[in-house]
Amino acid sequence: MAGKKLLIKHAAELVTCAGAAPKMGAAMADIGIIPDGALLAENGKVCWVGPTAELPGQSEAEWEVIDAAGQCVMPGFVDSHTHMVFGGYRAEEFFWRLGGTPYLEILERGGGILNTVQATRSASLAELKTMALGRLDNMLAMGVTTVEGKSGYGLDKETELRQLAVMAELNREQPVEIVPTFMGAHAVPPEYKGRTDDYVDYIIKEVLPAVVKQGIAEFCDVFCEQGVFSLAQSRRLLKAAQSMGLKAKLHADEIIALGGAELAAELNACSADHLLQASDAGIAALGKAQTVATVLPMTAFCLRESYARARTMIDSGAAVALATDYNPGSCFSHSIPLVAALAAIQLQLKPAEIVTALTINGAAAVNRADRVGSLEIGKQADIAILGYPSHLFLVYHAGMNIVDKVIKQGQLVWN
Ligand code: NIG
Ligand code: FE
Repeated sequence: MAGKKLLIKHAAELVTCAGAAPKMGAAMADIGIIPDGALLAENGKVCWVGPTAELPGQSEAEWEVIDAAGQCVMPGFVDSHTHMVFGGYRAEEFFWRLGGTPYLEILERGGGILNTVQATRSASLAELKTMALGRLDNMLAMGVTTVEGKSGYGLDKETELRQLAVMAELNREQPVEIVPTFMGAHAVPPEYKGRTDDYVDYIIKEVLPAVVKQGIAEFCDVFCEQGVFSLAQSRRLLKAAQSMGLKAKLHADEIIALGGAELAAELNACSADHLLQASDAGIAALGKAQTVATVLPMTAFCLRESYARARTMIDSGAAVALATDYNPGSCFSHSIPLVAALAAIQLQLKPAEIVTALTINGAAAVNRADRVGSLEIGKQADIAILGYPSHLFLVYHAGMNIVDKVIKQGQLVWN
């Protein structure tokens, strides 16, 4: 998408998030605020950022000009963990959980993820695509310019590939960039009940090679959880995926402290996600690793579980990202505003840390930090403009979408 030239000026606050990525520990609070800021973008990329008073001379006739007076200009959000391609809904399950039935027990009985697997297997590519497109439109309106999406509701070769094909097609047809993750190890399908090792073999021998051959996934993820995939099974799968050229992600220590955080660090995974129950040793391991600790507070909120210790993670030197985990089960919401509010109120993150976690560290969690997540010369001009003068309003205007405009590769795509 080659952009027309774009000039943004007089932003009350221009947040760059510039610097080495991912931002680890104390560096997360450094978001590079320029008061009365301006930015120029050409051919979809940022070519100048600084105070409006120092804008290089240019004839405004050639540029699309946005006067951002009274507004905050910041990098577009990177939602680095979602399951956005799925069929069917599970509204009733939400209330079973509130009534006391545990999430894993519903899965064990053949519901939960397996319910969505049935609905996704019976949906066509066109049906899945139409539903996902509507979801992407809503994400864009909340300032999301890059989103990660996982397969994992097929659990067979054909449907896993169909989910990934939906993402590939949507990448060509709408502005939000989708980063595709293969998650064939999301649950054990009914055909393999009681034979988890055989299912892992099937993924490694049959499905992963097909995914790699088609070049339609960049990451491999696994639900490393008691009663789902063990540490040993997760390690075996992710090592196989890495040897085939995919990068690793893990659903780690979500319900039970299995040691997923430690495994992520051991495998040099790109991210370890959830981490509600991560042990002290797991947090310490993430504090030393480049692995991004991706925290998903809306899932803890919806499951009524205790929150991940994100404050401790940052204080231990880890790079923390925040994401929605949008899916039809554990967290049916892609609300960036609710993530921000929970991060401040329940996780004790500072507003600047929240901005970092939703932008440059999210970009690092999807291996895109060289291209998106900050407003620096040479990076994509993916921008969210807030209808208020400071990033503080992301938390303060609790639960409200305050995004006024969204720019993708220098083009105004939502207003
Ligand atoms: O990230 N925990 C596993 N996977 C998803 C939930 C998927 C679902 O319930 O459909 C998660 O919480
Ligand atoms: Fe998830």
